[in-house]
Amino acid sequence: MRGDDRARGGVSAIFHSQVCGTAVNNNSNQPAPTLVGIIGRFTRRRAPRASRPSRPPFAMRAAVYDRTAVEGVRVVTRPPPTAPARDALLVRVRACGVNPVDAKGVVGDKLPAFLRPLARRALDGTIAGFDLSGVVDRAPPNSGFAVGDEVFGAVPPFRGSFAELVRVPLHQVAKKPASLSHAQAAALVLPGVTVTQLLDQHGFEPGQRLLIIGASGGVGHLAVKLAKARGAKSVVGVCSAANAAFVRSCGADAVVAYDAECSETTRDSSGGGKEREIGNETTTPDAVVDELRRIVREDLGGHAFDLVLDAVTSGDARDAGFEYERRVRSAGLVKTPANGADAHNYVTIGSRPVGWVLAAIKRVTGVNLFARGRELFWIRFPGCASDLAELARVCDGDASASGGRTSVAPAIEATLPLTSEGVAEAFRRLHSRRVRGKIVVEVT
Ligand SMILES: NC(=O)c1ccc[n+]([C@@H]2O[C@H](COP(=O)([O-])OP(=O)(O)OC[C@H]3O[C@@H](n4cnc5c(N)ncnc54)[C@H](OP(=O)(O)O)[C@@H]3O)[C@@H](O)[C@H]2O)c1
Repeated sequence: MRGDDRARGGVSAIFHSQVCGTAVNNNSNQPAPTLVGIIGRFTRRRAPRASRPSRPPFAMRAAVYDRTAVEGVRVVTRPPPTAPARDALLVRVRACGVNPVDAKGVVGDKLPAFLRPLARRALDGTIAGFDLSGVVDRAPPNSGFAVGDEVFGAVPPFRGSFAELVRVPLHQVAKKPASLSHAQAAALVLPGVTVTQLLDQHGFEPGQRLLIIGASGGVGHLAVKLAKARGAKSVVGVCSAANAAFVRSCGADAVVAYDAECSETTRDSSGGGKEREIGNETTTPDAVVDELRRIVREDLGGHAFDLVLDAVTSGDARDAGFEYERRVRSAGLVKTPANGADAHNYVTIGSRPVGWVLAAIKRVTGVNLFARGRELFWIRFPGCASDLAELARVCDGDASASGGRTSVAPAIEATLPLTSEGVAEAFRRLHSRRVRGKIVVEVT
């Protein structure tokens, strides 16, 4: 680290501990004291008692994986990151989006079950999280960013965003949408980039008809919002009855509830046009497909879906039991291109490990080995700054067109603090698979 870098790091730590009142600990890895640091400590000694930091400088709070902790995560103190290289920003984090992949220990379902305990052991002590929104603390010259800019972005795997200060590569960060709070911007990152890349890779065009399965979750509800904002003709969502109104409020044209306590009033799937209540009965996956068939026939004028985003199907037995892909595709609800080309337009975002191998082969070689009509999408973080900038443009454009509030803002189910209890609660909720919208960890 260069001397001036250290000096600026000292100013930064002191500013944070004094102005933001953040507690920090003594740490053996702390940088050597600088002149500015020494002056800062002297100044602090004279400060009134109430404004003194509860921890010494040069350390920060971070949530790390720990197999012995509740939900496998705990908040500890760590040395802050060193001065950023030419190609990164140092960002003071205000909020972090929490994603299922964080709760599943970064590797998620990409490894076979017998290897996952080994992976978790290797992860112990690693900072969790990908997504963040915050304020630039240090920026390299000519980077397009300045100290004080509000930004949102993602850190590379195994680097971790659940911390007070993080380094974010320039190719994975963009200016925060002005119309969103830090919590909303942080919640937008991974699911927003997923939806943006997925729509682009699968040739989405305005006027298309989309089916979103798992439409109330982190990815699903943003898929509904973004597809409508980008001009989808019709978006149909599948979720629980309890979340049907929420998915409609995100912009879905129709919602099919899959579960037992279905209280949605829907039209008779026999085609008779009668209204029927399907409450008090178990709505089987077949009933879901029947209802989708009716929607295609009556609401979409017989046009099958151009694209399906299935955010539920995964290697997890709880999800696989619904067999959405087999049922939806065998019912002929997904369009087959007229020219015989394979559109790979039934897209899942979860899979058994073999799917991730095929996705990796496609990423590295460009060869698509997925079976006809289907594909597993895998988010690509490097270079996602352009996707983030596009998301910011959509959010702010929508906000200015609608007088301030954007309909593309992510819905936040809960905002939790960066404490061991807060992050464990976020992970517990994500493991339940019942989160409506997003969970955010706020760094105060
Ligand atoms: N491949 C990639 O690049 C990529 C990117 C992002 C995410 N992912 C993965 O995609 C999955 C979804 O992510 P997420 O952030 O959307 O998860 P999430 O927010 O945890 O999803 C929870 C939602 O799933 C819905 N759900 C659960 N079972 C359902 C069912 N049988 N039918 C319909 N909806 C159901 C729930 O809705 P109800 O409560 O209404 O049932 C809940 O709202 C995760 O496994 C994640 O790891 C992969």
